Amino acid sequence: MYILLLFPALAALVFIRFLYNVFRHDLYWIPGPFFVRFSNIWRFIEMYRARYADNAVALHHKYGKIVRTGPNHVSVADPDMIDQIYGHRQDYPKSDMVVPWQKVVNGKIMTGIVDTRDRKRHSELKRPVASIYSMSSIANAEDFISDTIAYFVKRLDESFISGLSGERKVPMAAWVQYFAFDAIGELTISRRFGFLETGADPEDQLGQIDRELEYRAVIGTMPWTHYLIKGNWFYRRFIEPTTGFILKASNLIKDRAVNGSTHPERRDMMARFIEAQKAHPDIVDDNVLRAYITTNLVAGSDTTAVVMRAAIYYAIRNPHVMKRVQQELDDNNVTYPLQYKTSIALPYVDAFINEVLRYHPVASIPLERVVPPEGMPTPFGHRLPGGVVVSMTPWVTNFDTEIFGVDAEKFNPERWLQGEKESHEASKHRLSVMRANEFSFSKGPRKCLGIHVAQQELWKCIPTLLGLFDITLAEPQKEWKVKKQFVSKQSEMDVILQWRPGKSLKDVSHLP
Ligand code: HEM
Repeated sequence: MYILLLFPALAALVFIRFLYNVFRHDLYWIPGPFFVRFSNIWRFIEMYRARYADNAVALHHKYGKIVRTGPNHVSVADPDMIDQIYGHRQDYPKSDMVVPWQKVVNGKIMTGIVDTRDRKRHSELKRPVASIYSMSSIANAEDFISDTIAYFVKRLDESFISGLSGERKVPMAAWVQYFAFDAIGELTISRRFGFLETGADPEDQLGQIDRELEYRAVIGTMPWTHYLIKGNWFYRRFIEPTTGFILKASNLIKDRAVNGSTHPERRDMMARFIEAQKAHPDIVDDNVLRAYITTNLVAGSDTTAVVMRAAIYYAIRNPHVMKRVQQELDDNNVTYPLQYKTSIALPYVDAFINEVLRYHPVASIPLERVVPPEGMPTPFGHRLPGGVVVSMTPWVTNFDTEIFGVDAEKFNPERWLQGEKESHEASKHRLSVMRANEFSFSKGPRKCLGIHVAQQELWKCIPTLLGLFDITLAEPQKEWKVKKQFVSKQSEMDVILQWRPGKSLKDVSHLP
């Protein structure tokens, strides 16, 4: 009898909740589509269909700099607000969209630097390893990145140019990720994972990352559904033994403990994570150590590969850009693989890579933060109440015409250079505003920790490929495919490679 009353009672509660969502007075002033006020289903579906980022762009075009995107979600497009939401002086924690990112090890939840919400815990986890990611640490390891780039070039040559296989089409979308994965292996454990050597992904690790990130992006829009799927006690206890990248990280740690390093003379990232564990045993337990390694594996390959694909694609699609990059490399008689210092000092190469990062942002998810209890001031006339989830999306902010110029929709590396008629002072000011507002690596205390790893790889590898090879699309009439879900991942961009006139493997140092 009572059970029969339960259903109408539940239905009534859901209905009241809907009414509250729709009519809550504290967010009523924010424009947006009416239906997003009811529930997060719109965000869920759009993320599942990989259309959230494009929709966010369209909504901001239609409604302006602040848009309601859910019952408790607000998207902001005003670069002036970056500091307010993400800045070092603020205390806006990540939203619970990161809950589905957290892993389970032996039945316990394991949080890492990326998916910890609590700011204090985040600082605790970051402090022991922050220096490992500093530019000076990564610069010390530059030779190992050069080794991987040289091997990448050699494998491309063997497999698709001078080798006997006869295969000419390079599945470049996959190969750049093989490179990025192997480079992370070299930095973390002083050896590559074998992607470049085999030219394949026999354990489907790239597929595992895709599925993992898809789960994070979609379930992160309605984090409570995680408890119905993977976050519940039953799943943790019985279904998910330690799997995937956690297992890989565990095995790498065990392997280091039992067999030592293949290069004991190097102080690689694994060695330094283990030192951090010894120095901070109260913070870095075995789970945290595993999380450090897992983060490198998951965060460090897909992201860099997205930028490398975009660089190759936009250089091919804009022949005058490709020509200028190659001209600058030739005029400066650079050696290959490029040294990082050389690369950042080449104005056009530097401008080109900055433009690629701006024009094809890696993150397609909104970078969500929670407004603290005292609320958030806005330039839109009202405060946002505490507890509201506020986000920005680089696909919106990186195209702001006030910051990046009226042609922000265009791929134009020149915007990062001094204009012909522009004074030195004016250009310095314009560039510093663009740099301060470029949002690809996020900002503030949760800014990408791997930024220097990414920069070394990108600024070294991209000009090396463009300087050594003539690269064309295998099917020039076809557009690539871009799936904007967690990252803005591209596919279907096979290319044909040829050595540029006068170039060959002889021009490459660091070969094995
Ligand atoms: C072009 C390449 C990359 C891009 C565009 C990128 C982008 C980002 C972004 C946007 C965030 C912030 C997410 C948020 O605010 O919610 C982030 C965080 C992070 N990234 Fe990257 N990333 C890249 C490469 C890497 C690499 C190579 C590594 C590691 C080797 C890495 C490690 C991390 C870590 C540990 C965090 C969490 C930082 C924290 O919360 O303190 N990333 N990344």
